[in-house]
Amino acid sequence: MARITASIFTSHVPAIGAALDMGKTAEPYWAPVFKGYEFSKQWMKDNKPDVVILVFNDHATAFSLEMIPTFAIACAEQYMPADEGWGPRPVPVVHGHAKLASHIAQSVIQQDFDLTIVNKMDVDHGLTVPLSLMCGQPEAWPVPVIPFAVNVVQYPVPSGQRCLNLGKAIRKAVESYDDDLNVHIWGTGGMSHQLQGPRAGLINKDFDNAFLDRMIADPEGQAAVPHIHYVREAGSEGVELVMWLVARGAMSDLAGGPAPRVVHRFYHVPASNTAVGHLILEETK
Ligand code: DHB
Ligand code: FE
Repeated sequence: MARITASIFTSHVPAIGAALDMGKTAEPYWAPVFKGYEFSKQWMKDNKPDVVILVFNDHATAFSLEMIPTFAIACAEQYMPADEGWGPRPVPVVHGHAKLASHIAQSVIQQDFDLTIVNKMDVDHGLTVPLSLMCGQPEAWPVPVIPFAVNVVQYPVPSGQRCLNLGKAIRKAVESYDDDLNVHIWGTGGMSHQLQGPRAGLINKDFDNAFLDRMIADPEGQAAVPHIHYVREAGSEGVELVMWLVARGAMSDLAGGPAPRVVHRFYHVPASNTAVGHLILEETK
């Protein structure tokens, strides 16, 4: 049987990808950001999963306003890096896990979640920056990845509660897969930021740190927070944080199991127009 053994949460700031790709990681502005991921890269090597389910958002790279899936699971064999802004990052092709992805699609749709099935998709910084932060700059990514896209760009966006419930459904799907796979689920995006309008540049450290606290100890409470609260307190793009609730919902404490163990917590501000937040939670059984 497959099982989820850990959840990982991280920001996906595109400028982090550019800093890595342009060799700027040792610069005084960036060094503290990358220092926060030294532990994580080693932990990833020591706890290498068989598959990563990577919950992220596309930034009008693969999807445009012509088509806006609220939840989309990618079932392809591979995904090419692409991006707006700095252009495609010089990172390896992302290999998928079509068999597990198809099983998750089948199971989660039968649990009454309407998922869009994607069989061809390019992946932007929302997916490649978390991979770089956790895996460094290898010739090939060390694990297959199932991209799971959530619309947090064009309103209406899904509620935190729906994201948490989706995570619970994904857990059931993984646990009903016959092969013995060690699976990690990653929730990415955030933290507080607003990229346009009179409040552009907004960062709210108090909100971000309270969010990290509640992601650890009170995910049900955080899931009840309406999206308008994120917009007010964390800015229009801060609502990317609801994606973390998908990964958090997949942990076993939300199905009556023991609380996960916090193995790493990191927060740094500023990075580009936002803060960097990061958690690693391990299942304890
Ligand atoms: C920035 C952050 C994001 O999450 C994003 O998708 C684009 C830009 C920023 O901080 O500039
Ligand atoms: Fe973003």
